Amino acid sequence: MKKRKLGKTDISISEVGLGTWQMSGDVWGKKTEAEYIQAIEVAIEAGIDYFDTALEYGNGYCEQVVGQALQGHPSVVISSKIPPECDEWSAKPQGNIDDYFSPAWISKCCETTLKNLRRECIDILFLHTWNVAWGDRTEWYEAMVKLKEEGKIRAIGISVGDRRASEANSHMEAGRIDVVMAVYNILEQEPEYTLFPMAKKHQVGIVARCPFSSGALVSNWTSSQKFPEGDWRGLWTPDDWVAEQVEMVDRIKPIVKNTDLSMSAIALKYILHNQTVTSVIPGSSSREHIRKNASVAALPNLSEEILGQLQQLWLDGKIHGTYNGGA
Ligand SMILES: NC(=O)c1ccc[n+]([C@@H]2O[C@H](COP(=O)([O-])OP(=O)(O)OC[C@H]3O[C@@H](n4cnc5c(N)ncnc54)[C@H](OP(=O)(O)O)[C@@H]3O)[C@@H](O)[C@H]2O)c1
Repeated sequence: MKKRKLGKTDISISEVGLGTWQMSGDVWGKKTEAEYIQAIEVAIEAGIDYFDTALEYGNGYCEQVVGQALQGHPSVVISSKIPPECDEWSAKPQGNIDDYFSPAWISKCCETTLKNLRRECIDILFLHTWNVAWGDRTEWYEAMVKLKEEGKIRAIGISVGDRRASEANSHMEAGRIDVVMAVYNILEQEPEYTLFPMAKKHQVGIVARCPFSSGALVSNWTSSQKFPEGDWRGLWTPDDWVAEQVEMVDRIKPIVKNTDLSMSAIALKYILHNQTVTSVIPGSSSREHIRKNASVAALPNLSEEILGQLQQLWLDGKIHGTYNGGA
């Protein structure tokens, strides 16, 4: 498994990581704890050494599962995220950051996460949502620096909103952020223009989330797709979301057909062609999918021709955007 350096930090991680939201036991369906732990073990065997979780996922349950599975692997890198205290997941410009991420809340959540993960230090700690209107506030940063000084975190991150990839750029420019997590996939290429140039200039690590557009790219949905009860994609998305995703994926299929690669491989390779990306984190609790996704790191890069075709679709407005629940 190839590794990439996380911006200016001393952390290096596998270029394919694992998103563990699927191990929350709720909005992505439920499996047993043993199945989740087996899936994480498969990831380790496949060379993955970076795992993303969040306090929000299953209200601490996912962090506990990840902590348990990785307790014998102290060198494996884990990121987690602090939820907004007011529980508003798409932070609004008129929202007061004190209601989302006060220093006291940051400190309290960090302690809970450390306990859940069974670690003395969290490698990367993200704020789980953001808004561009908070460019002039630094109390959150001072609280994170204090955690760094206390040895409780190694890297400071912000997870920016869907289609709002540049909203933390001013803090990035001011040198306050080590890593940004953003939606970046074939359908959502905007970060290439609004986030990556600044990240490259300031050596900020990038974690690419939702590489399969929450499953749309790899699941052969139809426009009348129904999700199991409790699946967030049937609960939190606009009525036309599935049909829009299916339409966009149909425009990509002919390009994939002209290669000997699977859609999932092309989706991950598209992201990894960009060297500003440190790691891509496909979310999965399936051992088979985790193995398959990890194996993509060893494949050759996509040809300029395929890259160009995928980029042209986005530039022409034939594909655009995703939706992952607003965070
Ligand atoms: N605001 C935020 O900070 C935020 C928001 C969303 C996500 N995230 C993080 O990013 C991670 C990834 O995003 P995501 O999970 O929302 O979306 P995603 O990775 O684009 O898609 C996940 C879906 O793809 C399926 N899948 C994975 N590998 C596959 C394969 N090879 N073939 C077919 N299906 C496959 C998964 O099902 P199986 O489980 O069956 O494999 C799941 O249904 C999350 O786990 C989480 O850690 C962060």
